[in-house]
Amino acid sequence: MTLTGKTAVVTGASSGIGEATARLLVREKCNVVLAARREDRLNSLAAKLGEGALAVPTDVTDPAACDDLISRAVGNFGTVDILVANAGLGLYGSIAQGEPEDWRRMFEVNVLGVLYTTRAAVRHMLDRGSGDVIFVSSLAGRRVPRADGTVYAATKHALTAVAEGLRMDVHTKGIRVIKVEPGLVRTEFPESSYPNAREYYAQREYSPLEAEDVAKAVIYAVEQPPRVSVNEILVRPTEQPK
Ligand SMILES: NC(=O)c1ccc[n+]([C@@H]2O[C@H](COP(=O)([O-])OP(=O)(O)OC[C@H]3O[C@@H](n4cnc5c(N)ncnc54)[C@H](OP(=O)(O)O)[C@@H]3O)[C@@H](O)[C@H]2O)c1
Repeated sequence: MTLTGKTAVVTGASSGIGEATARLLVREKCNVVLAARREDRLNSLAAKLGEGALAVPTDVTDPAACDDLISRAVGNFGTVDILVANAGLGLYGSIAQGEPEDWRRMFEVNVLGVLYTTRAAVRHMLDRGSGDVIFVSSLAGRRVPRADGTVYAATKHALTAVAEGLRMDVHTKGIRVIKVEPGLVRTEFPESSYPNAREYYAQREYSPLEAEDVAKAVIYAVEQPPRVSVNEILVRPTEQPK
């Protein structure tokens, strides 16, 4: 199914997987609304992507800002066909040594932020009778990969519940719900927990995916004809052991 002329809202578009997804969507002739907190990054990406891109600085932990994001997208492009709920962060540490503030931040962005943007987008999609909602979850949404990532994995497991419950709610209303679950991807993601992301990746015994590899999985799902709903895509680096 062609994406030409469709409009996508991408959260976490200021770097990594969100930025790569926005780039590929524009290549597919989709309009994109770029959301994240770093306005300078969004503006420079929007300038590179051209008139089909709109930067809307948004903190997804603010429900009113998420409503405004979808309203701005509809006001500018007339509709929202695709939501890529991708903004997220991982703050690592054991439960015993963990910081409640880190846990709160992860749940606010990775779970509540997804719920706020999804609510705003789905209300609009229900009125139109069509739409695609993509959650960028994680391999950690299926199992706990490491003890110091327990709370991060808990946020991504929560998305598994949200995706399935939402799917049950909207599957007869023209709306598809798609969960993309990457293994390790080379982005700025480790920087929240590790001083040097380059060293973090160098310590792995396998090469990570590139952000565009995950973006391609998103494109694959949304290009399917309306009768096909790709609900889950797990994409690992080939050599990632578990
Ligand atoms: N990299 C990996 O290995 C990996 C693996 C599996 C899943 N994932 C998932 O992939 C998604 C994207 O991560 P990434 O790897 O691309 O990392 P990234 O480069 O660090 O991107 C994270 C994005 O989230 C945005 N963000 C964070 N807090 C936000 C907030 N409160 N409001 C709005 N935007 C916010 C950041 O933008 P601002 O700072 O500008 O707000 C940034 O654009 C995340 O959900 C992550 O859990 C990543």
